[in-house]
Amino acid sequence: MKPWRPAGRARYPLSLRHRPVRWDKQRPTWRQARPALIAEALKRAQARPSGNWYVVGASRDVRADRSLSATVAGQELVVWRTADGRPVAGPGSCPHLGAPLAESPVRCGTLVCHWHGLALDGGPFAGWEPLPVHDDGVLMWVRLDQVGGEPPTPAPVVPPRPQLSRSVAAVCTGVGICEPEDVVANRLDPWHGAWFHPYSFVDLTVVGTPDAEPDAEPDAEGAGEDGFTVDVSFKVAGRFVVPVRAVFTTPGPRTVLMRITEGEGRGSVVETHATPLGPDELGRPRTAVVEAVVASSARPGFAAARAAAPVVRRLMAAGAARLWRDDLAYAERRWLLRSTGRFPG
Ligand code: FES
Ligand SMILES: [Fe+2]
Repeated sequence: MKPWRPAGRARYPLSLRHRPVRWDKQRPTWRQARPALIAEALKRAQARPSGNWYVVGASRDVRADRSLSATVAGQELVVWRTADGRPVAGPGSCPHLGAPLAESPVRCGTLVCHWHGLALDGGPFAGWEPLPVHDDGVLMWVRLDQVGGEPPTPAPVVPPRPQLSRSVAAVCTGVGICEPEDVVANRLDPWHGAWFHPYSFVDLTVVGTPDAEPDAEPDAEGAGEDGFTVDVSFKVAGRFVVPVRAVFTTPGPRTVLMRITEGEGRGSVVETHATPLGPDELGRPRTAVVEAVVASSARPGFAAARAAAPVVRRLMAAGAARLWRDDLAYAERRWLLRSTGRFPG
């Protein structure tokens, strides 16, 4: 793989693009973006164990006084914290007459049903059984053995992240009419970046794919057998761009990890988790996309002005909303074609 060099006439870390490439003049990527290559990477991702763990939301959305409501494969769940901050998860329907427990208040770590006052302290009670739950500091996971059907594991596979005390984290969630594999397949097609998201990316080159080094061991940066390595510039404002190298891997069957390995924000990660919600009223599958950005920078002063780092801002700000919408549209389109037998290849 060619060594990383910031694209353009870089004044590191921010570079001014003097001659922006017109959208229709950039190099087509469709020849490199081979459907079979993406399909193979997807297949390998799906074969990875999940231990039946599903991301249900952001850790910080499970607060002392308020529970988090979630749905996984049609199962209604509720997650709250006990008085000592420990997360508790279980069915979201009250065992008495079925009140939606996610709407019930939490008092001193006890969830009190707002219909008739049944109190749950996190232990089994009146037919209500807690589920295994894991708080990784950024995301909340629940284990559903009947849904996953895999051998259960004591904890989910949480990708390595920059030290949380020295980074800034943001979590956003969207919902699409598709299956988790459509979300994963979208992220395993890095070639669409500069074409489909020209407002966010420019100068995108995929410099390493899984089949380029089939025998390679995953290296310290997560590249190797299942890594797509991408050199790309993030557009930050006007003609300013931030060139980075990023590696995409799939640590689990429903997770795609993007780690910035060179350039501004080195070590930062974007984790995309796809959680099946269950069918909508028309019987179509719905999938939640929970994306966690954990950004750090080696530059001095980052701790004080973390939110100001350009890539961080770009990834976290409202500007990412369009990227989000477009990627969900890609996943939904893929599902539509698959479900009607029209997917190419
Ligand atoms: S429905 Fe919850 S206490 Fe009656
Ligand atoms: Fe995308």
